[in-house]
Amino acid sequence: MKSSNRYDVLIVGGGVIGLAVARELRKKGVRRIAVAERGEIGKEASFAAAGMLLPHAETNEADDFYRFCMDSFGLYDEFATELLDETGIDIELDREGTLYLAFDEKSAVEIGHRFAWQSRSGMGVERVSAREIRSMEPLISPNVLEGLFFPNDWQVENRKLLAALLKYAELNGISIIENCEVNELILESGNIRGAEGKGVKLLADNTVLATGAWTSFINIGGEPFPIPVKPMKGQMLCFRAEPGMLRKVVFGPNGYLVPRADGRILAGATVEDAGFDKAVTADGVESLRSAALEAVPATGNLEVIESWAGLRPMAGDGLPVLGDIEGLSGLHIATAHFRNGILLAPLTAKIIAAAVCAEGRSEYIRAFGTRRFTTAAASG
Ligand code: FAD
Ligand code: GLY
Repeated sequence: MKSSNRYDVLIVGGGVIGLAVARELRKKGVRRIAVAERGEIGKEASFAAAGMLLPHAETNEADDFYRFCMDSFGLYDEFATELLDETGIDIELDREGTLYLAFDEKSAVEIGHRFAWQSRSGMGVERVSAREIRSMEPLISPNVLEGLFFPNDWQVENRKLLAALLKYAELNGISIIENCEVNELILESGNIRGAEGKGVKLLADNTVLATGAWTSFINIGGEPFPIPVKPMKGQMLCFRAEPGMLRKVVFGPNGYLVPRADGRILAGATVEDAGFDKAVTADGVESLRSAALEAVPATGNLEVIESWAGLRPMAGDGLPVLGDIEGLSGLHIATAHFRNGILLAPLTAKIIAAAVCAEGRSEYIRAFGTRRFTTAAASG
């Protein structure tokens, strides 16, 4: 016999997306909310991330995805302030900005193109010479050729963000159910009525899937999930350093460095199509160390104090997957945030909470909805 509980909203997946959606629903007055997490809350991609908020360094044109990134970025000040008020946890929103650098001719050409389309589109981008870069960050390699400065590409301490969202849930009566894998959505006459797994059945009027890289393991009424989402592994290192050694995020062609308030410097990240393997490898460490050395030679003297890998959730086109599936009511998808789920969490949460509360369908559900996959499958 399965134990069963009933909720207004069941959120499957307790990463940054699931937790941020839970908070937004509670702020709208939804009462019985549960987050079911197959392992420990907030310990997958969202924990592995670097916490960069990079609408300008991580987008390639002034398209819907860029606008989605910027609109979510625009919520971060308020998100950080509210979380501090609500939980007492400072998520260390750091507004120092990002240096985007070239160390070889090919990257310098890319920088020229990037500057052209970004400045044409009115984005916050400054072209900076090698001398200017080294006066901003004296430890950058003298081999730097040139770069861009993005004053509006920031960072947060993503592990503190997860801690704050979890504390919000605990303080506000959101049920957190750990070690609870629910892979089967309960389908009754076109309605999703919750989800179940081994020994557990969670009934709900609305179900939100925030299952990250594991989304393709979800079944709907015995059928496989119609939208493939795959894991893209990212390995990271963390150096011990003195606070202030670097102040800005340094984003180079082969990797990035993210200085934290306590002095730690994160070095990331590989992008590997390696299934669900989360091992840190000698090759991965070597590539991260050499990218760090190329940008900031002084990292060669720093001790590595932590290394890890996480799985970015990626859909076929690399874009988020948001909203409903045609023909199924009571189901809301929020996944495939790939390289930018920390940046996109505040706006994703607002969009999904509004959809659950039937307050309207965001333009971003139209842009990043599930139909782009289901229609292609039906017609192909
Ligand atoms: P996750 O954090 O993976 O959470 C999904 C959760 O769902 C997991 O805890 C999982 O256990 C649970 N789950 C899955 N299936 C089930 C089930 N059937 N039942 C119950 N629970 C289930 N983004 C940025 O914005 N900035 C960055 O600087 C950045 N850097 C990154 C660096 C690395 C190395 C990596 C790996 C990612 C990075 N990202 C970054 C991307 C970001 O981490 C992800 O886009 C984001 O964390 C996705 O959040 P999520 O909640 O969807 O996934
Ligand atoms: N956005 C950084 C990463 O995914 O590695």
